[in-house]
Amino acid sequence: MTLEGKHIIVTGAASGIGRATAIMAASRGAAVMAVDYNDRVEETADTIRAAGGTVIAQTADISREDDVKAFTERCVAEFGILDGLYANAGIGGAGKPFLELGPDDFARTLGINTVGTFLCIKHAVPCLVSRRHGSIVCTASVAGLRANAGGVDYSASKAAVISMVQTIAYQLYGTGVRINAICPGLIETGMTAGVFTRARARGAEDRIGQINPAARYGNPEEIAEMACFLLSDGASYVNGQAIAVDGGLSASHPWVFPRKQ
Ligand SMILES: NC(=O)c1ccc[n+]([C@@H]2O[C@H](COP(=O)([O-])OP(=O)(O)OC[C@H]3O[C@@H](n4cnc5c(N)ncnc54)[C@H](O)[C@@H]3O)[C@@H](O)[C@H]2O)c1
Repeated sequence: MTLEGKHIIVTGAASGIGRATAIMAASRGAAVMAVDYNDRVEETADTIRAAGGTVIAQTADISREDDVKAFTERCVAEFGILDGLYANAGIGGAGKPFLELGPDDFARTLGINTVGTFLCIKHAVPCLVSRRHGSIVCTASVAGLRANAGGVDYSASKAAVISMVQTIAYQLYGTGVRINAICPGLIETGMTAGVFTRARARGAEDRIGQINPAARYGNPEEIAEMACFLLSDGASYVNGQAIAVDGGLSASHPWVFPRKQ
């Protein structure tokens, strides 16, 4: 599971899953470019540096191609090489009932979650293919697999990420570059803070995440573990997959939530 000698871009690194992955990857030997449009990405970089890791903090908007091109070029210029990309940055969607969704809502959600992810892949691929080695990991969601884990715009944006991963795996045929998606279940992060705050305010914290067989929600480090594995050479034969890390949530047919025993 070592990432020694790897040079990796992690997007969405100011918070949640991206922050946890940037810190974990650096602790396992990777030099990390931590990207986010929130300048709190500097705090992630400070944490990595304090632990003796190598990091570049970069503010950028992944939905803007000029930004993505610039940070990819900076990464290669400063590290001299690129071995991996974790295209993780995303937003939770408009949060509206579907009949209230408009084209602008869709454009914003897909513009970041789908097109932004695509742009990060597009600009990383030539660097990876030129070395005939590398790993791309994207954060999709269980919402991209089945219903009831997000709004229509969010779920569509994540289903599209899974489709891109499957399609691009074949576009990268024979190049030595792998691409996979992680589909997290409910993880406590900045994106889901409202869910947790509201549940705690109602005294219903013990009900959060109860509908999966692990009977709990996840934490960002549990997704970071999968991301670091997929970025490592240990995952050398894992390609084109959408891997759920969800406590077992997506394994089920519909079921009746059991009474407490
Ligand atoms: N938390 C969950 O339960 C959950 C479940 C499934 C999937 N996900 C996915 O995980 C990924 C990470 O989210 P998180 O849960 O850690 O949330 P988070 O809000 O804590 O972190 C997301 C980060 O992405 C950044 N970001 C958003 N849009 C950006 C843009 N255009 N350019 C650059 N940075 C941008 C944000 O500033 C933030 O720091 C997202 O793609 C999200 O859809 C989260």
